[in-house]
Amino acid sequence: MIVLPEDHSDPLVVGVGHHRACYIHPQDHSKCIKVVHNPCEHATQEIQRELAYYRHLDGYLKDWRGLPKYYGEVETNLGTGYVYDRIVDFDGKPSETMQQRYNDQTLPSLHTEMKKLIEDLERYVWDNRIVTMSIKPYNVLCHRLTPTEVFPVICDNIGSSSFIPIEIYCSWFCHKKQKRQFARFKQLPLIRSLDNY
Ligand SMILES: Nc1ncnc2c1ncn2[C@@H]1O[C@H](COP(=O)(O)OP(=O)(O)O)[C@@H](O)[C@H]1O
Ligand SMILES: [Mg+2]
Repeated sequence: MIVLPEDHSDPLVVGVGHHRACYIHPQDHSKCIKVVHNPCEHATQEIQRELAYYRHLDGYLKDWRGLPKYYGEVETNLGTGYVYDRIVDFDGKPSETMQQRYNDQTLPSLHTEMKKLIEDLERYVWDNRIVTMSIKPYNVLCHRLTPTEVFPVICDNIGSSSFIPIEIYCSWFCHKKQKRQFARFKQLPLIRSLDNY
C-alpha cells in the first residue's frame, strides 16, 4: 500500500481540486496519484466518467501531448489512488496551470505565449476530437517543453455526462460542442484580459 500525507501543504501535493488531491507518486516521480479528498456521489461519478473516456481514447488517440496518460489504480492509505503522467517542465519544475502562470500581474510579459497556448489548445482538441465538460484555466497545465516552447495539457474534466454521449462518437457534434465551449472559455476574465494587448 502506498502511504500519502493527509496534509495538503506537504511537498508531495502538486495540486488540490474540488474533489481530488494530486500527489507526486512516491515511487515514480514521473507519475502522479489522485485521490478523492471529499468523498461524495458526484466525485465517484466524475471519476467513472473520466476513466470511461480514457478507455475510449486508448482505442484511437495517438497524440498524447495534450493529455496526461492514465495508468490504473493503486491502493493508498487515503483510499483508491488513480495514476497518471505527472506534467513537469523541462527544468524539473511542476507545470503551472494557466490560472497560476497567466495571472493579471504576469500577463503583459506572457500575453504572446498565452495567445499561442490557446490556439494550440483549440487545435489539439479539434484535431484529436477531445470531449470535455468545460475548459477552465485551472484545469489546463502550461507544459514548458523548452525555454521557449509551451504546450497545453488538459488535466481534468474530460469526457461527457450526457445520457447518450453522441459528441464522443460523432466528430460533427464534438466540434459543435467545442466551438460553444471555446466561445465560453474566451469570455472568462483571464482570457478576455488578452484583448487589451
Ligand atoms: N497530471 C498532472 N500533472 C501535474 N499536475 C496535475 C496533474 N493533474 C492535476 N494536477 C494538479 O492538481 C490539481 C487538482 O487536480 P484535478 O484533477 O483538477 O482535481 P479535481 O478533479 O478535484 O478538480 C490541478 O488543478 C493541477 O494543479
Ligand atoms: Mg480540477
